[in-house]
Amino acid sequence: MVKVLGIETSCDETGVAVYASGRGLLAEALFSQVEIHKPFGGVVPELASRDHAARLAPMIRAVVGEAQITLEDLDAVAYAAGPGLIGALMVGASLGASLALALAIPAVPVHHMEAHLLAAMLETPRPEFPFIALLVSGGHTQLVRVRGHGDYETLGNTLDDAAGEAFDKVARLLSLPYPGGPALAALAERGDAAAFAFPRPLKSRGLDMSFSGLKTAVRLELEKRRGGDGVAPSPSLHADVAASFQAAVVDTLVTKCLRAVDETGIRQLVIAGGVGANTALREELRLQGERHGIVVHYPRPGLCTDNGAMIAYAGWCRLGDAARESPRIVARPRWPLDELRPVGNG
Ligand code: KG4
Ligand code: ZN
Repeated sequence: MVKVLGIETSCDETGVAVYASGRGLLAEALFSQVEIHKPFGGVVPELASRDHAARLAPMIRAVVGEAQITLEDLDAVAYAAGPGLIGALMVGASLGASLALALAIPAVPVHHMEAHLLAAMLETPRPEFPFIALLVSGGHTQLVRVRGHGDYETLGNTLDDAAGEAFDKVARLLSLPYPGGPALAALAERGDAAAFAFPRPLKSRGLDMSFSGLKTAVRLELEKRRGGDGVAPSPSLHADVAASFQAAVVDTLVTKCLRAVDETGIRQLVIAGGVGANTALREELRLQGERHGIVVHYPRPGLCTDNGAMIAYAGWCRLGDAARESPRIVARPRWPLDELRPVGNG
């Protein structure tokens, strides 16, 4: 049994977990910095780094204890090395590599999006290769053909905003608190999704996506409705806008997924990343999956948003690469997924 400690500090969540090959997750913990960033309406990178620095070591101790092992029982330390906020990444990378150095075990720098993409492998039943992955997070929106661990081909990409970014920006237009995505989704539940026919850019062709025009359409609609007469917009208007916006995003994402399935003939779909926690998206994909005979895998919401478990698992898959070199501190704010090469474990 190989035991890997996973450390996630790429953005505003501190995540720690222990994964054991053949057994699965032994323990995990997550601290969300939502309350720290809320007064600022978004993530303040400096505050994110400082809080990761304050919290990470005690969290590692607690999770290792909960897994009923000692630090000396660990076989490797995996940490999110990018993409993400450089200062935040540096905290996890520094402590992860230092710990590995002290324990004389490998340190595995993990690609955060690869970890998202493989998170569904922690669930039962596991998806089988090959599958199509819809990666929808705050910084990325991609359709990827996954042939095996580390064998990825990007089929479609967003040309501008990521889906999560669009959720966050529209949430701000609606004066919703950070984090915008979940707040907008909650408001949308009370609204009429058919109230506004917002555009679905690029829906009718190809696998690339675009969300910035949709965001602009929402802004213009709100400006029009608010008018110049100083009348405050009604709460139901905001709920209708939220529901109609969410419907446009879901419609676009689901259409692209179905097209990717059609074009590749691969009838397994895996949803990953923070927007994968969105109930409307999950429900529509479940419906369309049933209708079109596609097997849809979604990790539980806690494995869609940032977490240490996915880093530990991806670290185990990448252990072969890292075992040959001594621990290094790697932090890459930008790191294209296509640069990754296939791996042996999995
Ligand atoms: O994967 P993630 O936790 O962090 C990144 O790697 O970016 O994704 C965060 C993104 C944010 O844009 C957030 O607003 C969005 O995922 N998000 C949601 C929901 N939960 C998180 N968007 C829509 N509905 C949700 N329930
Ligand atoms: Zn993420």
